Amino acid sequence: MKRFKVAVVGCGCISIMHFASIAMAEECELVCCCDVKEDRARACAEKYGVRYYTDYNEMFDKEQLDAVHLCLPHHIHSKVSIDAMERGINVLCEKPMDVNLEAAERAVRRGEELGVQYGIISQCRYHDSSRFVKNRISSGRLGKIISASSSLTWVRYDDYYAKSDWKGTWDKEGGGVVINQAIHTLDLVRWIVDSEIDTLSVSMSNRAHPIVEVEDSCEGLITFKNGVKYGFWCMNNYGCNEPIEIRFHCELGDVKLSYNDAYITYSDGTKEEAHNVEDENCCGLGMDYWGIKHVRQIRQFYHALAGLEPLEISGREALKTHKMIMQIYDSAGMKAKFTK
Ligand SMILES: NC(=O)c1ccc[n+]([C@@H]2O[C@H](COP(=O)([O-])OP(=O)(O)OC[C@H]3O[C@@H](n4cnc5c(N)ncnc54)[C@H](O)[C@@H]3O)[C@@H](O)[C@H]2O)c1
Repeated sequence: MKRFKVAVVGCGCISIMHFASIAMAEECELVCCCDVKEDRARACAEKYGVRYYTDYNEMFDKEQLDAVHLCLPHHIHSKVSIDAMERGINVLCEKPMDVNLEAAERAVRRGEELGVQYGIISQCRYHDSSRFVKNRISSGRLGKIISASSSLTWVRYDDYYAKSDWKGTWDKEGGGVVINQAIHTLDLVRWIVDSEIDTLSVSMSNRAHPIVEVEDSCEGLITFKNGVKYGFWCMNNYGCNEPIEIRFHCELGDVKLSYNDAYITYSDGTKEEAHNVEDENCCGLGMDYWGIKHVRQIRQFYHALAGLEPLEISGREALKTHKMIMQIYDSAGMKAKFTK
């Protein structure tokens, strides 16, 4: 397989998962990186022995890149994606797609018009536990899903926001716990339920983070068009980062899914379970509660680029969850009050 020439834009917290996954994948080769903060770009360039830039447009013009990984503040995801696509560069962008629906739709359309691959990171779909549950539900083994629930109890201390120039703001982060942290849980449920939203009722507030304007708590009930009722609850004002918990109550059994483990109890009393298997060399990278499967999704992206298989989480696929996230904010009304 061709070794794709790739770059990372944005050398902040999450970039370590991209740099390390690229270094582990034989399908691609890091050639450069970019950050507006020169010290960050230089440090990553030195660590991986590549060139660095502080202006991504200059990098796109000077380098012969096959793909770029975007690890940037949310409000510039679509813009930088389109700037890359217009130079024929394939894009793998961190979640969420952007801070609104229109910008995300624009990037998906542009990618399709230009015939470039546009992938969005949602690494929790690559957990062995998540794939096991998706498989058992899609195969019909559990009958129809009747209801689903999820809870996310994490913590983001004030310094998480204080040291960032974009987190905690409506215009740049696009929200708080829903768009940034709970997005993975919401995505897993929507992917497994596999239906569009029919009705939605949400309550959202900022209960313990006066330092920022965005929400740190949200709960709601979503009814999907296939009849599944989904109750969710998320907060990032808990005392620690607990594993998330998702449950599905189905016609023929019940499912409990956490990040690393999935347990199914069928109505006839039989049980099945699945557990995440660590990827070689991946231990200690990032934080467990993020889900550590970037490495798998990144390899899938390059297999798609090589034409070996279809891209699994394309922009069009990710748009389904992005639309749901935007509907949650619209329904809560909190963002509208701030951004008027
Ligand atoms: N998939 C996950 O589990 C996961 C976990 C954490 C973060 N993320 C996502 O990763 C993205 C980045 O988050 P982070 O926590 O690393 O943020 P961060 O603030 O630590 O890093 C962002 C970097 O982008 C740089 N930057 C800003 N504008 C730029 C520009 N125009 N050109 C080049 N560089 C620019 C900043 O200087 C900063 O170094 C977000 O979308 C976030 O939601 C995903």
